Amino acid sequence: MKLSSFGQKFTADAGITSLMDDLGNALASGDDLIMMGGGNPGHIPAVQERFRAILSELATDEAAFRRLIGIYDPPQGEKHFIGALASLLNREYGWGLTADNIALTNGSQAAFFMLFNMFAGDYPDGHRKHVLLPLAPEYIGYADAGISPELFRAVKPEISFTDAHEFKYRVDFDALDITADTGAICVSRPTNPTGNVITDEEMARLEALARTHNVPLIVDGAYGTPFPSLLFVDATPRWNEQIVLCLSLSKFGLPAARTGIVIAAEPIIKALSGINAIMNLATGSFGAMMAEPLVSSGEILKLSREVVCPFYQGKMQRAVAVLHDALADNCRWYVHKPEGAMFLWLWFPGLPISSFELYQRLKSRGVLVVSGHYFFPGLPEDDWRHRHECLRVTYSQDDARVAEGLRIIADEVLKIHAEAG
Ligand SMILES: Cc1ncc(COP(=O)(O)O)c(C=O)c1O
Repeated sequence: MKLSSFGQKFTADAGITSLMDDLGNALASGDDLIMMGGGNPGHIPAVQERFRAILSELATDEAAFRRLIGIYDPPQGEKHFIGALASLLNREYGWGLTADNIALTNGSQAAFFMLFNMFAGDYPDGHRKHVLLPLAPEYIGYADAGISPELFRAVKPEISFTDAHEFKYRVDFDALDITADTGAICVSRPTNPTGNVITDEEMARLEALARTHNVPLIVDGAYGTPFPSLLFVDATPRWNEQIVLCLSLSKFGLPAARTGIVIAAEPIIKALSGINAIMNLATGSFGAMMAEPLVSSGEILKLSREVVCPFYQGKMQRAVAVLHDALADNCRWYVHKPEGAMFLWLWFPGLPISSFELYQRLKSRGVLVVSGHYFFPGLPEDDWRHRHECLRVTYSQDDARVAEGLRIIADEVLKIHAEAG
C-alpha cells in the first residue's frame, strides 16, 4: 500500500494508538485485569437514571424521536441544545453568548484536531506555527493530532512540594516563550494525566499573554467547569473572545454519545462548522438531545456539583488513603495534589527502573496503568529523569479493585527498591 504524507503520519505508531491497542488487547485477553489505565468515566447510578428517563421520553414522543434518529443537524450542531446552553451560561455567568458562539463536534477529541490544525501548522506566508502547551505533562490525546510534524511545544513545570508525599506542578512563566510562531496556547483544566488544576491566577496570566500575542487560549474543560465539574478545588469558569473553551459530555456520563462543545468567538465557530461539514457532514444529535433537558433547566450544573463531583472526590480520597497505608514512609514517593479529573499521578524519584518497565511488571501482575513518559508531547527528549519516574493511575472504577491495584503497585515498587538494594 502506498500512502501520502497524511496517510503515513496517521498510520505511524502514535502514542495514543498503542495505548488504546494495549488497553483493548488486555481487555480482550479475558484475564481478570485490574483496569486503571484508560480514561473511561465511572457509571454513576443517579446520572444514568436521569438519562434512562430522558431516553424513554424521547422514544415515546413522535416528533422528538424523528429528530433523534432521522434528521441531519447543521454542521454547527443541534440548534435546541446550542440555544439552551447559550442561555444557561449567560444566566449563570453573564458571558453574553449567542448561538453563533457555540459549535458541537463528535467528541471534544475531534474539536482538538480541527482547532490545532486551524491555528498551527503551515501558514500561507511560509511560517510554520506551533501549539504551545504551557504546562507539561499534558494530555496524550493531543500528541499526534497535528497534520504538520512537530505541532507542539511544551514547557517543563515548576515543582513545589505541598506535603510529605504530595507535590504540585505550576506554570513556569519565566520559561514560557511565546513567539511569532506560536499559533495557539492550550491547557487542560483539570489536567489529564495529573489531576492538576491550573489556578485562576495562572489562567489570568496565560490569558493576558494570549491577548498580548493575539493568539487564542484553548482551555480543555473535558473534566472541568461548568460541567462535569470533576473539581476538588475552586476554579472559576471563564470565557471571553480570547478563550476557546472546549467542553464535553463524556465525563458527565455520555462518552459513547461523542459530544464535544466548543465555545468561542463567532469567526472561530464559523470556521469550525465549515471544517466539520467537510469532515463529518453533520454532528451526531444523540448527546445533544439527551442532555438538552438538563441544560435547559440548569440541572446539569446541579448534578455535576452535587453528584458527579462527590462521586469522584470520594473515590480519590479512598484511593489516596490506600496509597498512604501501602507505601507509608517505605520509599520516596509522591502523588500530585489530586485537585480534579479521575487520575492519581504518582512520582517515584530515584526509581531504579523506568516507568515503562514498571508498567510492564505491573501488567504481568494483572494491573494496567499508564507509564508517565507518554504525557510529555512537545517536550524535546533530554536527560530529565522525572518523565520516566511517573505513572498515571485511573481511580474511576470499582473501589475494591482500585484498592487492590494500588496495593499491588505499592508492593511492586517496594520490591524493585529491595532488589536494587
Ligand atoms: C483532557 C482530555 N481532553 C479531551 C478528551 C476527549 O474526550 P471526548 O472526545 O470524549 O470529549 C479527553 C478524553 O479522555 C481528555 O482526557
